[in-house]
Amino acid sequence: MTEDYPFLRACRRQPVERVPLWLMRQAGRYMPEYRALRKKHSMLELCRTPELAAEVTLQPINRYDLDAAIIFADILLPLEGLGLGFEFSPSEGPVVERPIRTPEDAAAVSAFDPAVELGYVLEAIKLVRDQLEGRVPLIGFAGAPFTLASYMIEGGSSKNYLHMKSFMYQHPRAWDGLMRAISEVTRDYLAAQIEAGAQAVQLFDSWVGSLSPEDYRRFVLPHSAWVLEGLAEYGVPRIHFGTNTATLLETMKEAGGEVIGVDWRLPIERAREIIGPDFAVQGNLDPVTLMAPRELLVARVQSILERADAKNGYIFNLGHGILPPTPMESVDAVIEVVHGYGV
Ligand code: CP3
Repeated sequence: MTEDYPFLRACRRQPVERVPLWLMRQAGRYMPEYRALRKKHSMLELCRTPELAAEVTLQPINRYDLDAAIIFADILLPLEGLGLGFEFSPSEGPVVERPIRTPEDAAAVSAFDPAVELGYVLEAIKLVRDQLEGRVPLIGFAGAPFTLASYMIEGGSSKNYLHMKSFMYQHPRAWDGLMRAISEVTRDYLAAQIEAGAQAVQLFDSWVGSLSPEDYRRFVLPHSAWVLEGLAEYGVPRIHFGTNTATLLETMKEAGGEVIGVDWRLPIERAREIIGPDFAVQGNLDPVTLMAPRELLVARVQSILERADAKNGYIFNLGHGILPPTPMESVDAVIEVVHGYGV
């Protein structure tokens, strides 16, 4: 069966012969072949040209024995359709031209049809599925409503989310309206990715750990749950990822999905305890461990494998994206240890 891959089996908590692994941001600046393409094209050009996005998606698959590909795109691509211009500044990261600061700004944001505005991502997914020829399954993804809202309101990366949280507290109705518009786009976009060929989807709520459990429940959970619920009918695994979520996991699991992605701040066995037996778990290696000497790196990977209950739905991954200065040999070492581990 084409759907019978270790990665998809682990997502569904079915028995596996080896622990599957992939790396968040596995296509990126730590790879010389990516840097070579980036000399000729901007990040957005790569994303918006299906042939190039497909090429970049396959770069890590062609070099490494990874268990899944993830479509090369960015969580910020829907911002344009939502009426907000943005760019990737080499020094500051993402910069949104006119961030949302008032309820009127928020009311001007309305859902759009991702099949039209983001057709280039769907086209890239089809190309990648063709070019993969069944080697590994393909993951589609989108930013979760909260993390997208954070960029839309803050205008970029943020330390304490002053603008966003102030907006949430001061204008709860406008917040809910904005989150509904983003959620509609996110659900439709992920559904379109599945229809184009994505065999699993990941919802990235990267910055949600900035909230208390109480605020998460009030301002975020209903929206993320709505997005995930709207995808249930497709039957593909849904991965729900966040960082700094130690105190949120208990609430996050109410949002549904099949897999919960965790960072490294919580020991994996403790994350398992909180998340319980109804979900598979993904992640847990600190990306900076890949800068450590080989011995230490290998010991950390082994330690996670021993504590992760790998028999019951576990996908090895980093706790956040791989960092640009990562040595390629470290990636080799991680893959060797994970695949050498007897489940
Ligand atoms: O995992 C993959 O290989 C797929 C590609 C992918 C990218 N971004 C490519 C990218 C994925 C899954 C993302 C998700 C993403 N983008 C998130 C969620 C995951 C996370 O890391 O928390 C977030 C918050 C973003 C927003 C974003 N995009 C930031 C903050 C930045 C700048 C910081 C940085 O790393 O440069 C980006 C740019 C970006 N997205 C790059 C890549 C490969 C670097 C672009 C370059 O080549 O200059």
